[in-house]
Amino acid sequence: MGRAAVIRRTGGPEVIEIEEVTVGHPGPREAKVRHEAIAVNFHDIYVRSGLYPVQDLLPLVLGTEAAGVVLEVGADVDYLQPGDRVAYACRPYGAFSDERLIEADNLVKLPDVIDARTAACVMLKGMTAEYLLHRTHKVHAGDTILVHAAAGGVGQILCQWARHLGVTVIGTAGGPEKTAIARAVGCAHVIDYKAEDFVARVKEITQGAGVPVVYDSVGRDTFFGSMECLATRGHLVNFGQSSGPIEGFAVAQLSEKSLTLSRPVLFHYISTRAELEEVAGNLFSVIGSGVVTARVGHSYPLEEAGRAQAALEQRKTVGASILLP
Ligand SMILES: NC(=O)c1ccc[n+]([C@@H]2O[C@H](COP(=O)([O-])OP(=O)(O)OC[C@H]3O[C@@H](n4cnc5c(N)ncnc54)[C@H](OP(=O)(O)O)[C@@H]3O)[C@@H](O)[C@H]2O)c1
Repeated sequence: MGRAAVIRRTGGPEVIEIEEVTVGHPGPREAKVRHEAIAVNFHDIYVRSGLYPVQDLLPLVLGTEAAGVVLEVGADVDYLQPGDRVAYACRPYGAFSDERLIEADNLVKLPDVIDARTAACVMLKGMTAEYLLHRTHKVHAGDTILVHAAAGGVGQILCQWARHLGVTVIGTAGGPEKTAIARAVGCAHVIDYKAEDFVARVKEITQGAGVPVVYDSVGRDTFFGSMECLATRGHLVNFGQSSGPIEGFAVAQLSEKSLTLSRPVLFHYISTRAELEEVAGNLFSVIGSGVVTARVGHSYPLEEAGRAQAALEQRKTVGASILLP
């Protein structure tokens, strides 16, 4: 028997219950993994709250990302064996657990230099930074870009990586502790958007020109301001809604500056084994070389999954949060 954080209905953190579960043995193309560290992501909050429709999947074990050790493999799995250190970021849900069965194709082997806790901080967030900077909107050395929530889990990785690519990063963050972190992860300009008008500051920094791309995961509170910060033919990449869903947007608003709007999702960039290996490989390479460092911001026992989610939701976290089984 193992333990898992289960929801039987959607709602606040109180709907999460720790239950005993039987995991069983892997079927063809599956592996059984013992988790060593589990990531806490906004995606899981959207699932628990009902923002993402999951009624048909209930009851479900939450969680999209974890790292651990392969215990057993099923038939037709030839690239993994028991004892391999692995990590993943994928659906179906089920990462908030001691052990689980998972399609082996979702697992990547961890290089020796990356421990399980670091892996749980970077798989989903770091692969997101990879595709945002290289695939959704390819940045170039010399660009000046705007990144919201620069001290957050994704934000810290994105900023370090962008700086390494020769990009000047303007980062927003809420409050003095977070602005200091945004500076430490490579933002050349930091705006405390709780205290300052970020649109006016971006215009000032870019001398009125605006930026070619904004990476915006905050959503409701920043979306329209982000559009204002863009240069003509700029690209607004909205990849999350930490402050809530965006409302009141009309496509015609893009025509004012011939803007492009993207709403990308990681899972569509790693849907084949080849894509997953390439994106994860690029991430492991920047972590291995020290270009990107990721530290655990907050860790909680699995039993406190609700508390961990509440802290993330309430804007109280800095960097990545993990659960320890
Ligand atoms: N599309 C994808 O493929 C993809 C993949 C991974 C993550 N995401 C999205 O990226 C975002 C960041 O994820 P993360 O796990 O790294 O979280 P995070 O950035 O560490 O945490 C969210 C941050 O957003 C900022 N924020 C601003 N207004 C907020 C509000 N009203 N409520 C809560 N937070 C607010 C806060 O930073 P400040 O206090 O500094 O403002 C907060 O710490 C999430 O929206 C997530 O859904 C998308």
